[in-house]
Amino acid sequence: MHSITLDGETDFDGWRTAARALAMNDVRPVDITWRVAGNAPDLFEELPSQPLPEIPPDATFNVPAKFVTLAQDAILHSDPNRFALLYRLLWRLKSNHELLDIATDPDVIQLNAMAKAVRRDEHKMHAFVRFREIGRERESHYVAWFEPEHHIVALAAPFFVRRFADMPWSILTPDLCAHWDGHEITFTPGVAKSEAPSEDRLEELWRRYYASIFNPARLKVKAMQKEMPKKYWQNLPEASLIKPLIAEAGQRTGDMIAEAGTEPHKPQKRLETAMRRKAKAHDKHHDDATDLDTLREEAAACRDCPLWKDATQTVFGEGPGHAEIMLVGEQPGDKEDLAGKPFVGPAGQMLDRALEEAGIDRRKVYVTNAVKHFKFVPRGKIRLHQKPNTPEIKACRQWYERELAAVRPALVVALGATAAQSVFGKITPINKNRGHVVDLDDGTRALVTVHPSYLLRLPDPDARAQEYKRFVADLKLAAGATRKAARVA
Ligand code: URA
Repeated sequence: MHSITLDGETDFDGWRTAARALAMNDVRPVDITWRVAGNAPDLFEELPSQPLPEIPPDATFNVPAKFVTLAQDAILHSDPNRFALLYRLLWRLKSNHELLDIATDPDVIQLNAMAKAVRRDEHKMHAFVRFREIGRERESHYVAWFEPEHHIVALAAPFFVRRFADMPWSILTPDLCAHWDGHEITFTPGVAKSEAPSEDRLEELWRRYYASIFNPARLKVKAMQKEMPKKYWQNLPEASLIKPLIAEAGQRTGDMIAEAGTEPHKPQKRLETAMRRKAKAHDKHHDDATDLDTLREEAAACRDCPLWKDATQTVFGEGPGHAEIMLVGEQPGDKEDLAGKPFVGPAGQMLDRALEEAGIDRRKVYVTNAVKHFKFVPRGKIRLHQKPNTPEIKACRQWYERELAAVRPALVVALGATAAQSVFGKITPINKNRGHVVDLDDGTRALVTVHPSYLLRLPDPDARAQEYKRFVADLKLAAGATRKAARVA
C-alpha cells in the first residue's frame, strides 16, 4: 500500500509528481491512499508520506493535453476522492489513450462534472464578490467575504488583481484569503466570517447602480434566483432591493407595453422555411428553454478567446426560447458585464425606446451579442470599450449558432458591423445591405441595421434624429417580416 500526502488541497504539482512515479511503476489505483497534510484523521496523523518509487530509466508516458487541463481544474474540487479519481484516470490512460473521448465512461463523466463545477464556482466568485471599504480616503482598504464551494481562491484571484489593480483589497474566505497591496498578491489561511466587515459606504452606491439597471420588462424571478443563488444574497448590497423592485415591476411594465403596427405586407420568399421553422419551434418550445439554460451554463466557462480573462462574466443572450425575432448586438458593455445581461446600459435604453416605437415588445424578443465577453482597456477608473477583432468574433460564433439553433427565430436582426459579420459569416457592410430581409444559405432570414450606440455617438442632433428614424424604420421592417411569417404558419 502506498500512502501519499500532498502539501495542500490544491497541490497539483505534488499530485502529478507522485502520480507519474506510481503510474510508471504500474501501481494499481486501489493500492494508493491520498491525503492532504493537516487533514488526516488522528489515527494516521503520525504516518509519514512514503518515498516515491524510482521511475524506470527508459520509461515514457504521455497523457493527452486535455487531461492535464481538466485535472488542473478538477483537483480544485472539494470532493476528497478527487485525487484517487484523477489517478485512476491516469492509470487507465496508459492502456487507452482515447479514454477521454468515451463520453459514457463513469470516470470521464465525473472528471468533466468536477472540472465544470470548479469553473462555475470561479465564475460565481467573479460575479458575486462585493468589497466593503474599511478606513477612509488614503487609508482605505477594501475587504470582501466569500464562501466558495471549491478551492478556487487562488484560481479566481488574478481576475481581481486585473480588475481592481489600483486599490488594496483582501478577499476573506473560510478556505484561503487573498490580499493585494497594489504590487503583490499574497495568500493567508482561511478565517471565520466574523472577521469580515459588515458596515460600508460602498453599499449605497451598489444599490443605486443596481436599481438603475433593473428593467421590469425583463423580470424573470426564477432565472434571477438561479443566476444569483440565495446563498450569495447576504453579501450583496443590492439583494435588499430585489423584493421591492419585483413588487413594483407589474406597474412599471404596463407603462412599457408598445402598440403593435398593422400595415399589410406582400408575401415573402422562402415562406416554407419560415413555416417549417415556426412549426418546429412550436413543438420544441419546452426543450428549447432547457437547451438555452444548458448553453448558458456552458458558455459561462468559455475560454476560447482571451476576452474571458478581464471580463466579469459571460453575458449570454436572454429572452423567450421560441422568440420570433433574435436581436444580435456587438458585445456587452460596461454595465452589461457587471449585470450579466445584454443591453441594459445606455445602448440598451436607446434600443428599448426604438423597439417600442417600432411596435416590438422586447419581452418577446431574444436579445444576444456576437461576442459574449466585454472587451475593454482600463483608463483610470473607467473601462473603455474596444471593438472585438475577427478571431474573437469567430471564436464566439459557436454560441450564436447554438442560440440560433435552439431559438429558431423567424428573423435575425444584426445590430451593427460586428453582429453582421457573425450573422452573415463574413464582413458585411451595413449601408449596402440594410433595408431588406436577406435569406441566408442556412435558411436564416436576416436583416442588418446600425448599432444603437452609433446613434448615441452622433454629435449633431439633427443627424441623430434622422438616423434614429431610419433605425426605427428598420425595426418596423423586422416586425412586419415576422408578422407575415406568423400569418402563414
Ligand atoms: N452593446 C452591445 O452590442 N450589446 C450590449 O449588450 C450592450 C451594448
